[in-house]
Amino acid sequence: MSLTIDELVMPDALDAPGGDDFAEYATLSNDVERHTLGTDLLAMGLHEMLSEYVSTASRTRRHLVARHGDVMVGRAMITTRPLTPEAGAYLMVDVTPARRRRGIGTALLAAAEALAVELGAPVLKVAVAHSVRDGGERVEPPTGFGDLPADDPGVRFLRAHGYALEQVTRISLLDADRLRDLAAAGVPDDYRLLTWAGPTLDQWIDELAALRTRMSTDAPSAGMVMLPDPWDAGRVHEHDERIASSSRTMLTAAVEHVPSGVLAGFTEIVVSEGGAVAVQEDTLVLTDHRGRRLGMLLKRVNAEQLVATFPSVEAVVTWNAEENRPMLDVNEQMGFREIGREAGWQKHVL
Ligand SMILES: CC(C)(COP(=O)(O)OP(=O)(O)OC[C@H]1O[C@@H](n2cnc3c(N)ncnc32)[C@H](O)[C@@H]1OP(=O)(O)O)[C@@H](O)C(=O)NCCC(=O)NCCS
Repeated sequence: MSLTIDELVMPDALDAPGGDDFAEYATLSNDVERHTLGTDLLAMGLHEMLSEYVSTASRTRRHLVARHGDVMVGRAMITTRPLTPEAGAYLMVDVTPARRRRGIGTALLAAAEALAVELGAPVLKVAVAHSVRDGGERVEPPTGFGDLPADDPGVRFLRAHGYALEQVTRISLLDADRLRDLAAAGVPDDYRLLTWAGPTLDQWIDELAALRTRMSTDAPSAGMVMLPDPWDAGRVHEHDERIASSSRTMLTAAVEHVPSGVLAGFTEIVVSEGGAVAVQEDTLVLTDHRGRRLGMLLKRVNAEQLVATFPSVEAVVTWNAEENRPMLDVNEQMGFREIGREAGWQKHVL
């Protein structure tokens, strides 16, 4: 039976035409990640996945599916940023574990790369989960922080296709019981704490847009090509609306520097309706305000908000670059433990 590769257009809704194909696509993606990490703690709900996989004004997503006859055996996703095309494209390729080593991944990657190049991407990037196994041959990024097992299928595949490992990211988890035990933290003079659940409070939209823009340049990116990714109030609204309309709640803790009226930092956690694992998203403290333990303060306060608002949540998961010592220090002190690894890979095509 021959292999076909076709574009999959995202449906308007799960129950709209194309919804069944999307469900098969989403299940394949969750199954592959579960197979790699040995846990389904990170599995995304269909509703949530659809809201992340559609294109927005600042992020274009195209999807390819490989089929053997009627059976979906692989998928690829190509993500580009219309506001910063020079930052290139992110590619993702997944092949059903039972159908590997038959060239399906190579065929999907070639189609995904061709589409990215056609879209003008000068650099191709991959951010993908890898298994955590100690021992055996290792692969290290040039930063010297973190490593991966050389025999992980994704590692072998990407190296065979000319991608360079640039960054290793730790995926770690904290049980909610540990969050309940965290001691309250003091607020330094001149600062005021703010917390809210749901969309960004109107009065802080512009400040939040500025903090999110800084996130794109201040988070360590190792050798990955990164450009300032501009946010404005409209983009914050679109982002918040997309989260709310996919049965997710964003919990934010922020700290205002009262003398200047500037938001000095923020952190946010996203919780899916009925989900057991909440996702730690961005955390940032502006350079001028670092060194006052505001990062720890923000995370503790948002943890309090999480356990109070969503008592059924069992754990929080977070992603941190291995070279991001300040953030790992905070998370290790809180009790986060590693459950997997993700890596940033890159290939220049122009
Ligand atoms: C990586 C992945 C997409 C490969 O899919 P695939 O259909 O097996 O890919 P191919 O058959 O085209 O394999 C191509 C090459 O990858 C390498 N490779 C993949 N798995 C391997 C393994 N278990 N052992 C040794 N080499 C392996 C080999 O170089 C292989 O060529 P070969 O079979 O001629 O030796 C698949 O393992 C997968 O879905 N992994 C999880 C997601 C992931 O890591 N994606 C990375 C790209 S974003």
